[in-house]
Amino acid sequence: LIIVLDFGGQYNQLIARRVRECNVYAEVHPYTMSIDEIKKMNPKGIIFTGGPNSVYKADSPSYSKEIFELGIPILGICYGSQLMAHVLGGKVATAPVSEYGRTEVTVDKNSILFKDVNKSTICWMSHTDYIAEAPEGFVSTATTPNCPFAAMENAEKNLYATQFHPEVMHTEEGMKMLRAFVMDVCKCSGDWKMDSFVEDTIKSLREKIGNGKVLCALSGGVDSSVAAVLLSKAVGKQLTCVFVDQGLLRKNEGDEVEAVFGPDGPYDLNFIRVNAQERFYQKLAGVVEPEAKRKIIGEEFIRVFEEEAKKIGAVDFLVQGTIYPDVIESGLGKSATIKSHHNVGGLPDYVDFKEIVEPLRLLFKDEVRKAGRELGIPEYLVSRQPFPGPGLGIRIVGEVTAEKVKIVQDADYIYREEIAKAGLDKGLGQYFAALTNMRSVGVMGDERTYDYAVALRAVCTSDFMTADCADIPFEVLQRVMTRIINEVKGVNRVMYDLTSKPPGTIEFE
Ligand code: XMP
Repeated sequence: LIIVLDFGGQYNQLIARRVRECNVYAEVHPYTMSIDEIKKMNPKGIIFTGGPNSVYKADSPSYSKEIFELGIPILGICYGSQLMAHVLGGKVATAPVSEYGRTEVTVDKNSILFKDVNKSTICWMSHTDYIAEAPEGFVSTATTPNCPFAAMENAEKNLYATQFHPEVMHTEEGMKMLRAFVMDVCKCSGDWKMDSFVEDTIKSLREKIGNGKVLCALSGGVDSSVAAVLLSKAVGKQLTCVFVDQGLLRKNEGDEVEAVFGPDGPYDLNFIRVNAQERFYQKLAGVVEPEAKRKIIGEEFIRVFEEEAKKIGAVDFLVQGTIYPDVIESGLGKSATIKSHHNVGGLPDYVDFKEIVEPLRLLFKDEVRKAGRELGIPEYLVSRQPFPGPGLGIRIVGEVTAEKVKIVQDADYIYREEIAKAGLDKGLGQYFAALTNMRSVGVMGDERTYDYAVALRAVCTSDFMTADCADIPFEVLQRVMTRIINEVKGVNRVMYDLTSKPPGTIEFE
C-alpha cells in the first residue's frame, strides 16, 4: 500500500491511479490523517501531493516532522516537495520566475528516481514558490534554469521530492519516475491487480456490513451495476436492488437489466423491478420546459424509490455508485448550473438508513469497467456508453409521450446497431438518436406525410465537458437514415447534428 497524502492539489487521485498502474495499490487520504493511523496502515511508501498554498504561511496545510522519522520512504510532489524542505529546515520562497507548463528539466542520472530517464526531459511545472535552499542531508537531483531544486533527495533516509508533477501526462517520463519510487525505493512487489481490488473490497464490505441490510438503487448503468455486484458477492441476499423503469430507458434496456440482475440471472440478491412508466408519463404530460422535465423525473424517481424502500423497512446501508469524477464535480459546485444533473445523489434524505457505502469512490471510469470485467459482468453492460439519469426524457425535445418514447427508442436502436456494425462504437464518446419537436412535410409512396424529424448525435470526447462532433462516414449515416425512415413509424426526416460542445451540449435538453 502507498498512501497519497492529500494537501489540496488537483491531481491527487491521478497520483493514486498512476501508482495503481504500476500494480501497486494506493489510497488517497487527507493530510489531517494522524500519524498513528498512518502507522496502523503500515504503508510501504507515502506521497505528498501538490496544493495551492504557500508552506511558509501560518495556516497552510502541514504535517509534523515525525512523519519523516518513521523510516517510510516519502516522495513530495510540488507543494509536497516544498513542505518536505520547509519542515526539515530548508528554505522555501517566492520563485523569482514562476514556471508553468512544459519545462525542460536536467536530471542527475545517478538518482534512483531518474535512472531510466533521459538527462534532459520534459516535465510539467506549475509553481510560484520554490525551494531556495535544501535541508541538511539533501542534494539537488534536477534543475531548470530558474529552479535549482527541481528535484532533491536524501537517499539515505529515502526522502525524495520533485517540484514538477510526474503524475501528469505532460511529464513525458513521469511514469518511469513514479515506478522507480514505488518499485525501487519503496520495494513494492507490484503484484496488485484489479482482482485484488475486487477481492479486498468484497472482504472489507463483508466486515463493514456484517448482518446488516443493504439497499441499492440500480440504474443498469456501469457504476451502479458494478457496485451492486460487489455488494451481492459480499453479502448476497442481505442486498436488495430496486430498479425503477421510468419508461425513459433505451429499447429493451429494462429487460436486459432484469435478465442480468433478476431471479434468472447469476447473482445472489433480491431484485425489485418497478414498472412506473405510466406514472412518469402522466407527470410529464404537457410539460415542455427542459429543467421542469428534469425536476419532475428526478423527484418522481425519488418518490417511487422511497415507496419501495418503505416496503422493505429500515435498512442499515444505502449503496451509491459514486465514482471519483463525481466526487470532484460535487466538490467544485461553483460553476453556473447549465443543467441540473439527476442521479441517485439526492436520495439520502428520503430513505431510512444508517450509512452510505460507496465502494467505487476511488476509481476512475475505466477502472470501474475493469473491475466489472473482473466480476464477470456481461460486456454489453460494462462497456455501455453513458446514459443520463433522466433518460430519453431529455432526448425528446418538448413534451414527452409514450408514442414519442417509442419513436426515439426504435430510431436509437437502429442507429446503435449500424454504428456497431460499422465498427465505430468503440471510438465514440457518446452517440444516440434524439427526437426533435419538429414535424415537417414529406412524401412517401405518393402520399403526403407530416411527421417528426429525428436527430442523430455522435461526439468524440474524453471528459464530456467539451466534445467534438464525430466524423461518421456518410454511407453509414445514409444507411441509418434509410432504415429509420423505413422502419420507424412517425418519422419522415433524419438529420445529423454537427454542433460541438460548447456551444451545444451533448444532450438536447
Ligand atoms: P451535457 O448534455 O451536459 O452532458 O453536455 C454531458 C454528459 O452528462 C450526461 N448527462 C447526465 N448524466 N444525469 C446524469 O447522470 C443527468 O441528469 C445528465 N444530464 C446529462 C450526458 O449524457 C453526457 O454524458
